[in-house]
Amino acid sequence: MTAPSETVLEAEGDAGGDAAAIDQAMLAEVLAGLAAPRKTIASKFFYDAEGSRLFDAITELEEYYLTRAETAVLQQQAADLAERIGPGATLVEFGSGSSVKTRILLDALSGLSAYVPIDISGDHLDAAAKRLAADYGLPVIPLHADYHAPLELPPQVPRDHLLGFFPGSTIGNFEPEDAAEFLRRLRSFLGGAARLLVGADLQKDPARLEVAYDDAKGVTAAFNMNLLVRFNRELGSDFDLKGFRHEAHYDADLGRIEMHLVSLRDQTVTLDGQRIAFAAGETIHTENSYKYTLESFGALAQRGGWRSEASWTDPENLFSVHLLIAA
Ligand SMILES: C[S@@+](CC[C@H](N)C(=O)[O-])C[C@H]1O[C@@H](n2cnc3c(N)ncnc32)[C@H](O)[C@@H]1O
Repeated sequence: MTAPSETVLEAEGDAGGDAAAIDQAMLAEVLAGLAAPRKTIASKFFYDAEGSRLFDAITELEEYYLTRAETAVLQQQAADLAERIGPGATLVEFGSGSSVKTRILLDALSGLSAYVPIDISGDHLDAAAKRLAADYGLPVIPLHADYHAPLELPPQVPRDHLLGFFPGSTIGNFEPEDAAEFLRRLRSFLGGAARLLVGADLQKDPARLEVAYDDAKGVTAAFNMNLLVRFNRELGSDFDLKGFRHEAHYDADLGRIEMHLVSLRDQTVTLDGQRIAFAAGETIHTENSYKYTLESFGALAQRGGWRSEASWTDPENLFSVHLLIAA
């Protein structure tokens, strides 16, 4: 993205605009990913309505410690955060989902001017925004958009005191250099006077990480497989859902969880008239989730144009939350 000054990231379409155009863009991206020597699909495609519903179910799982740990940090630090941020901020959240953790900030921060949740999953976003507006009596201005594309804050959003919020370890889905670039874009977008609150998952025992992404009830498997359901429905492909299985493993060298869909046999899938061959055992790489240390995340933030004002972890040191200030 070519990031201009301050609040405006550069105007471009709303992801909820022209459905035919979005399908073509999605089709082109999916075809390119499946034509690559190592088949890959961008994790943003997880989030249709069913994917968003399944993600919410994941956050409730016993194995998925991330949401509970991040919630605990935010609850513990809410008063301190409120003091540091001061009154009258506008809260802008990237990948807001159901905005559940956001409520901790909305409860703690005084005199918020507005809340701007940004998410690619339009209906889910609108439903969450309606609930928050009703519960808090605050201007809630949802922005249905792909945050990889140029974004622009709606004109009515007060922008003199911006607090960005990027929870959920979503930063871990970026390659580290892409994460640094994204942080640089957020710095231009939010401006030099802004702060950014980011949640980053921490390195830990690989066994604990792997079950968090491969739970006993199979909810994460359903979330991963839903990509194929979505492509069959929206792109007209003919993936045989019985021909693939979910896999999650930790790559200790790269410090990341990888999620894949593994082909159970030699097979051919048709998408947009193209025949895509899968060998038995071949995978589609569907997500990375990088795990940081406090130090490595601090270094990443610095490369992204921010410095750490404060960092906190939960009592078990599972998850970290960083309050960043434009460097
Ligand atoms: C891991 S979930 C986190 C949800 C929530 N923030 C939380 O902490 O539980 C990632 C969220 O980012 C959204 N998302 C993923 N890729 C996106 C993109 N490229 N642009 C905008 N939103 C995106 C998804 O729809 C989803 O709500």
